[in-house]
Amino acid sequence: MSLEHALREIKLDLRKYMMKPAKRSKVVKLSEMKDFFMDSEAVEKILSKGKDPVIYQYYEFIEEEAPGHLTIGLTVLYPGKVGKEYFMTRGHFHEKDSAELYYGISGEGILLIQSRQGETDYMVLKPGTIGYVPPGWGHRTINTGRKRFVFLFAYFSDAGHDYGVVKEKGFAKIVIEEKGKPKVVDNPKYLEG
Ligand code: F6R
Ligand code: ZN
Repeated sequence: MSLEHALREIKLDLRKYMMKPAKRSKVVKLSEMKDFFMDSEAVEKILSKGKDPVIYQYYEFIEEEAPGHLTIGLTVLYPGKVGKEYFMTRGHFHEKDSAELYYGISGEGILLIQSRQGETDYMVLKPGTIGYVPPGWGHRTINTGRKRFVFLFAYFSDAGHDYGVVKEKGFAKIVIEEKGKPKVVDNPKYLEG
């Protein structure tokens, strides 16, 4: 690697909530999350009206998906609910146990983590807060606010992503709105084991 090109500069546009350069970006709509939200009737009710809202989008700077590298990115999670459940990311485990950093930039939400044994923990992520996800813990973010929930993340580039276990079993906890306030409750549809 020649010296003059060793450093990489990544710019976060904190007005448009974009990241440049972004070597990968993804927009996730409700139709892609049918198996992730708890209330499937509420999902169908929205989709049957011909609506397919964007739930979140994220941008990633990937230097190289190889050991030792970090992938850095920005997620924009929109406000809203499906039934009583707040808009959220799909959630995943990493194929290679490795830690991940989350840093709140705008709005407010919950970072929910779960071990492969089914233990859970969560924290409020807001501007200036860092969440450290330990190696091996699955994770999901939930927008509990009324505006976009935006956060930075960094993970090991060779970690890989396993969405299957979340799609099949869900998380043990879900985040719903009750009497106007966020509440972390047991997921009645969680498939243990
Ligand atoms: C990367 C990571 C986040 C999420 C992003 C979208 O390992 O944890 O960047 O990928 O917030 O959420 P998912 O990937 O769960 O749809
Ligand atoms: Zn991750």
